[in-house]
Amino acid sequence: MLDKKNCNAKPFLKWAGGKAQLIDSISSSLPKHLKTSESLIYVEPFIGSGALLFWFLQSYPNTKKAVVNDINQDLFNAYNVIKKEPENLIKELGSIQDKYYSLKDEMERKDFFLAQRDKFNARNLNSIQSTALLIFMNRTCYNGLYRVNSKGKFNVPFGKYSKPKICDVPTIKCDSQLLQKVTILNGDYSEILSHVDSPKAFFYIDPPYKPISQSSSFNAYDKNKFDDTEQERLKDFCARIGTLGHYWLLSNSDTKNFDPNNEYFDNLYKDFNIKRVKAKRKINSISSKRGEIFELLISNY
Ligand SMILES: C[S@@+](CC[C@H](N)C(=O)[O-])C[C@H]1O[C@@H](n2cnc3c(N)ncnc32)[C@H](O)[C@@H]1O
Repeated sequence: MLDKKNCNAKPFLKWAGGKAQLIDSISSSLPKHLKTSESLIYVEPFIGSGALLFWFLQSYPNTKKAVVNDINQDLFNAYNVIKKEPENLIKELGSIQDKYYSLKDEMERKDFFLAQRDKFNARNLNSIQSTALLIFMNRTCYNGLYRVNSKGKFNVPFGKYSKPKICDVPTIKCDSQLLQKVTILNGDYSEILSHVDSPKAFFYIDPPYKPISQSSSFNAYDKNKFDDTEQERLKDFCARIGTLGHYWLLSNSDTKNFDPNNEYFDNLYKDFNIKRVKAKRKINSISSKRGEIFELLISNY
């Protein structure tokens, strides 16, 4: 049994759109009553790397239950393996790490990386092996990102890191412990509602962001496109969960970063509260002042 006080649960994968930098803004925008709620339910329909989930479960130990979802099946498998088989995963990842560290030559490491990527893409491994390779590639590929082509094949090239941490034992163990009260789903976000059985749940909604410039490709997570029609379907979903008595907070890009006259989200969410918060990351291509960018936090409370 791990000592909860010494545990620091956090994302076990680096994922596009990770919310670690927005946690302070989100934290001060949460409904005040959550701290004292006795039957708090946390719901996250687009879980990604789960930065907010892990932060929330540690900051709100009164959370009775959480329900999370993502359409990405590799991610779903990984959450399940961390939840149910952390020790087997640690064993598998540990031996991959030993092998990788024993290779001193960069070409040898690159060949090893490419061979593991082929193995992963053959899609005939058990869930522990494929999750171990997913984490391995996430730590050793270029920029540590997840990207698949139109056939669902992971295609990020090799990245040159001298001693990447591949097997992060404390994180796997702490995450596993927290995931025990989490229901993990794999499908379209709209299906999550049938797993939320009491009212007044708190939903944090972090969809693929609307691209704010021609060159940004924020929504290239997988083969499914998240275009304006999808943004509009999501607004209807938000309105619906509000009607059911739940609280929701949604983050998205601020289209005004690029074009001050672009009222897309102001119009779409005109019936709700919209806050603009400064994002810590900077994007060079943004023409606004000094490359500062803002993101939106929209809520129904
Ligand atoms: C912005 S990311 C989430 C970022 C995350 N909150 C974090 O901190 O890293 C959006 C996620 O939505 C998932 N996704 C895309 N379309 C979806 C859909 N229709 N239903 C559920 N998940 C979807 C993607 O696989 C991706 O992981």
